[in-house]
Amino acid sequence: MENGCELQKETGSELVLCLESNALIHTVRELAETDSTNRVAKELAAGGASEGVLVVAEQQRNGRGRLGRSFFSPDGGIYMSLILRPRIPAEKAVLVTTCAAVAVARAIDRVCGCRTGIKWVNDIFVDGKKVCGILAEAGLSPESEHPDYIVLGIGINVRKQSVPEELKDIVGCLEENRTDTIKKEVLIAAVWEEFSELYQNLSTAVYMDEYRERSVLLGREVTVLAPEGNYKAVVTDIDQEGRLVILREGKSVLLSSGEVSVRL
Ligand code: BTN
Repeated sequence: MENGCELQKETGSELVLCLESNALIHTVRELAETDSTNRVAKELAAGGASEGVLVVAEQQRNGRGRLGRSFFSPDGGIYMSLILRPRIPAEKAVLVTTCAAVAVARAIDRVCGCRTGIKWVNDIFVDGKKVCGILAEAGLSPESEHPDYIVLGIGINVRKQSVPEELKDIVGCLEENRTDTIKKEVLIAAVWEEFSELYQNLSTAVYMDEYRERSVLLGREVTVLAPEGNYKAVVTDIDQEGRLVILREGKSVLLSSGEVSVRL
């Protein structure tokens, strides 16, 4: 398939029925296959689509990850992106990611009966392995202090699939240690139910206490992967703006983006 090509599925599906009572989502575009649901949702948002349009793909061939990386998107996963138009200052856009992380963690716990952890800033872990990645991409307008739109993309590994050798110790899936089948529509609906509730209080970030409780980094020694060279530090807190507070050579430092690695 060429990049940008997509196949539309019929409407009135089981997923649409599961999302019917969701107050935030008014339109669901179900695709059998696409390159990236974030790419599709950004195109729709730039063309004027309103908040509450959800793009869901059965298969994703060129998933985008943070820091310009690609996102491993095996068949049997959940790939979806929601268009948002929050009235928050652009520098607070990271709150959409932290809010989504708590929502996904709660939804997975509820539907799958497990205890998820959050690795700053946007990874969801189960049993020491990443099962979900979140990528919020903002469309900025020079005339406004608010982002024009934010596309919130969520990818969850659900079914067991073969994982490339280099990802084997890092990437897991929700069905890894179970014999029953997780209903993807039910999990998708649970994610957006939790998110819709938390999103109402986005700017006050009341969910940050839960984010900290679920953090797999607090109190741990981590390696900060920095352009000027990696260094070791201890994570002491995550502040209300979602920044990581680290202790580096006795000094407290705030990290607002970037990557840290930890042995889980
Ligand atoms: C990361 O872990 O680096 C973030 C990954 C985000 C992946 C999701 S899958 C659905 C949506 N479409 C994309 O192309 N990316 C996001």
